[in-house]
Amino acid sequence: MRQGRYGFAIQAEEKSISRTAQVRYPTVLFLAFAAAMAWCPGAAAQVDKTSPREAADLRAVFANAADIAEGRQIAQTCVRCHGENGISTTKDVPHVAGQRSAYLYNKLRAYQTGARRDPDMEPAAKFLSDDALVKVAAYYSSLEPAQPLPTAAKAAPASSDPVAAGKAAAAACGGCHGDDGVSKVPGMPSLAGLDPKYFVAAVKGYISDQRKHDMMKSLVMSLPDADLNNLALYYGLQKPRRAETPAAGDQAAGKEAAKDCAGCHGEQGVSTNPANPSLAGQDASYLVVALRAYKEGSRAEGSMKNAVATLDESTMKDLAAFYAAQAPQAPKVVKPLSTAEWVQRCDRCHGVFGNSTDPRTPALAAQRTDYLDKVLHAYKSGERKNSVMTAMSATLTDANIDGLAAFYARLRLHNPAVRMSSARGALADARLSKPATVTRSVPPVP
Ligand code: HEC
Ligand code: HEC
Ligand code: HEC
Ligand code: HEC
Repeated sequence: MRQGRYGFAIQAEEKSISRTAQVRYPTVLFLAFAAAMAWCPGAAAQVDKTSPREAADLRAVFANAADIAEGRQIAQTCVRCHGENGISTTKDVPHVAGQRSAYLYNKLRAYQTGARRDPDMEPAAKFLSDDALVKVAAYYSSLEPAQPLPTAAKAAPASSDPVAAGKAAAAACGGCHGDDGVSKVPGMPSLAGLDPKYFVAAVKGYISDQRKHDMMKSLVMSLPDADLNNLALYYGLQKPRRAETPAAGDQAAGKEAAKDCAGCHGEQGVSTNPANPSLAGQDASYLVVALRAYKEGSRAEGSMKNAVATLDESTMKDLAAFYAAQAPQAPKVVKPLSTAEWVQRCDRCHGVFGNSTDPRTPALAAQRTDYLDKVLHAYKSGERKNSVMTAMSATLTDANIDGLAAFYARLRLHNPAVRMSSARGALADARLSKPATVTRSVPPVP
């Protein structure tokens, strides 16, 4: 035993949790907790606040060598799924070796009470006593974590930047809609600055024949949803300009007639509701074609049918001239975060590089890619319930999830027991839990 650099006694070379380490734990834990909570208020509020079992879960953290030996016996029933030594070789089954002990215990309890559902885990946890759960959790936590996936392996998929992917897909559309999405050909609508929700609805309208237009249908019919969303995002982020096309009608007369349309399309043709398209700066010939289509019924849309019922051809042209002359405005489109930007947010709770320092928050480093992927989708869909993670995953795209799973699977997880009980580990912990450089540049978690 010797005095550590941070003022608390630490047990050198001690790999498993011993009685001596046990006594020292509260100090180390307190520091780790303080560090975790300081930059993770969401988790602080979230951690079992309502649970009557308050702090009971921390017993797994204080387990001794004998407890761990017993835990090893209990784990015999887990080996067939979680692998020898808690390192899983089975798809969708997580590694549990080196995971935070209080987290493991809490999850086992959750399977027992039905708070977390899984057909494999419910029977596995069902008949174990609380004491057994504490011990098996402590055992798995004491094990050496899985090796991370080699970083040389294929990195995050190329599609992980949806805006770049959208731009690439838009090459097929630029010939008609303009390279930058601003029309230069009469009859072709500008796409730059269309609200992504409207964009997607319009394309789906062509596919379903709600908007009858054989040419557009053939062009977008076989677009996968991911491409369509990327295209919508790309065009939504392009700065809109007035179409570089002529407008024949009388703007002043159009302005008068447009009073009937302002309620839905905005006084200057800038709509704030994605259901109603903005018309400002749009190509005038296209506006006339669209108005005719609503009137004749080849565009079947309730709100527009009434609005155009009594319009004659010349009023349509005037309206088109008025709207085409208005200044378009970019819709509020939030550029999705890149994987790296997400990681900064995730690490605030899951520890720097996914090495959680909070015993109740899972480590993510070196976890199986397929499991991370599955779980993030489960939080997003609500299948796995946790208020913090539901909020965190709500805006993750499939590409984000792929990227995050691939990223964390490639990081090294330091064994918490080693980190807590060896001088090197304590130093590593201190380094890993130092949030200053990471947090400053990051806005608050939504
Ligand atoms: C029949 C296969 C099977 C057996 C046996 C099994 N598990 Fe699991 N375990 C799984 C699967 C699959 C999951 C992921 C389930 C999910 O997504 O909720 C899991 C998840 C877990 C988790 C949650 C991990 C996390 O990161 O959230 C813990 C803890 C766990 N198992 C511990 C055990 C223990 C301890 C035993 C033995 C007493 C055991 N398991 C037996 C298949 C199994
Ligand atoms: C050959 C020319 C051409 C190409 C290529 C083309 N479009 Fe179009 N697009 C049109 C025309 C013409 C219309 C107007 C159709 C109508 O009258 O409804 C249109 C309409 C649209 C609209 C509706 C705009 C609005 O304001 O409602 C969207 C969205 C759209 N196209 C997306 C695309 C995408 C995405 C691609 C590439 C995958 C693409 N288009 C390729 C000619 C083209
Ligand atoms: C009750 C709300 C409402 C009113 C009033 C209304 N619109 Fe619309 N308008 C819509 C909606 C919703 C759409 C999208 C329909 C679709 O998806 O095809 C639309 C679409 C359009 C389009 C097609 C735009 C494009 O990019 O394809 C034009 C042009 C248009 N409206 C012009 C007008 C004019 C001119 C008036 C007034 C005479 C008017 N609208 C009144 C709701 C309205
Ligand atoms: C505010 C704190 C917080 C943030 C930020 C956060 N998480 Fe979590 N995360 C948690 C907590 C707490 C749990 C345990 C929830 C449970 O029991 O289901 C968790 C669970 C998880 C799990 C399940 C691990 C397992 O072993 O089953 C994954 C995967 C995960 N988070 C990934 C992420 C990713 C990726 C991000 C960033 C996009 C993120 N988290 C951001 C607090 C957070």
